[in-house]
Amino acid sequence: MTGDRMPPGFMRDAAGRLLVAGRTAADWVADAGDTPLFLYDRAIMDARVRRFRAAMPKGVRLHYAVKANPLPALLAHMAGRVDGFDVASAGEMDRALAAGMAADHVSFAGPGKRDRELRAAIAAGVTLHVESAGELARARAAAQLMGARARVALRINPPFELKGSGMRMGGGARPFGIDADQAAALMVEMDDPALDFRGFHIFAGSQNLDIAALAEAQRLSIALAAELAAGRPLPMVNLGGGFGVPYFPADKALDVEAVGAALADSLAARPAGLADTIFAIELGRWLVAEAGVYLTRIVDRKLSGGERFLVTDGGLHHQLAATGNFGTVIRRNYPLVNASHDGARETANVVGCLCTPLDRLGEKLDLAQGRVGDLIALFMAGAYGRTASPEAFLGHPAPMELLV
Ligand SMILES: Cc1ncc(COP(=O)(O)O)c(C=O)c1O
Repeated sequence: MTGDRMPPGFMRDAAGRLLVAGRTAADWVADAGDTPLFLYDRAIMDARVRRFRAAMPKGVRLHYAVKANPLPALLAHMAGRVDGFDVASAGEMDRALAAGMAADHVSFAGPGKRDRELRAAIAAGVTLHVESAGELARARAAAQLMGARARVALRINPPFELKGSGMRMGGGARPFGIDADQAAALMVEMDDPALDFRGFHIFAGSQNLDIAALAEAQRLSIALAAELAAGRPLPMVNLGGGFGVPYFPADKALDVEAVGAALADSLAARPAGLADTIFAIELGRWLVAEAGVYLTRIVDRKLSGGERFLVTDGGLHHQLAATGNFGTVIRRNYPLVNASHDGARETANVVGCLCTPLDRLGEKLDLAQGRVGDLIALFMAGAYGRTASPEAFLGHPAPMELLV
């Protein structure tokens, strides 16, 4: 018993070295040529997709939120496994389509879409999740000019919030979506021949581990969609997602089966007008966070003020979230281990190579002793890692990424 915390799917070999997808971390680094290196284990992601399918009511579609990890190889892998991609920019849309996802299974949400992004989505046949009355007017004008029909769903800022979320994205004053009490007025515009009304998108929050809160948000979202449709055919409702992952020791992994059972009840009780509606859940981190590991190498070890510091060649420029600087109030340790051995232990701080006190990958950790040259593995690195970090800050090299 070492006290190391590792997500399911990772283990050590008999020599105490970390195995990722059946090979040692050192083998993968040798393949890549250097550290820092992100590895994403496709078997772990596939297991997530299977678990979702088994847990959710039949017919509920699974969408992948590309923002969590837009690596082209990962998208190509996911394209054959999930039912749709949700994107947040024209850049993500291009990647989604290049990965092989059919345009009519791609939706584009996000405030501040530029006219050229609206035109690109309309031309491709991607569904726009419209965030305001102004955006709807711009999308319609663009479609009219192009002689095309814009596929549109209204993104609704619901009058409720997803309680206990790491990030709240609904309820109250928000830049996201159209306030529910303003949406009814826009529904009359859905008869415009330039618009192809696809339904609603209701995203209330993310990183949530509370079954009851998720179930309640889903139940309320279905009721809200029915109310706003007011008898109009409703092809699709995107119920958002928010399924969280256990980053910290006190976090308990989400009981997705319980969320699925509650959703089955809510769907069984839905108004008759929604009988033929397709429901989708969009997930980012729950599908990919635990599949990713970030490998760095110890370049220095030192003592200061009685504390041990292990200085690595990685840092917040690749893995901002793990340093507690990406929307976290209190900094807590992500799971982190010495990937090179599992011998005698010490208490150490693991820091990155950036010249800022913010660059702390782990504080006061109980670790197998860190020697210069050892590999450090930081888990939960599959979502909001490289592309959610200030890579250009201080001019260090970009990390490498491998889908394994
Ligand atoms: C609209 C929308 N969809 C999906 C996501 C993905 O959330 P998560 O990665 O927590 O599943 C987010 C995250 O902020 C979002 O804003």
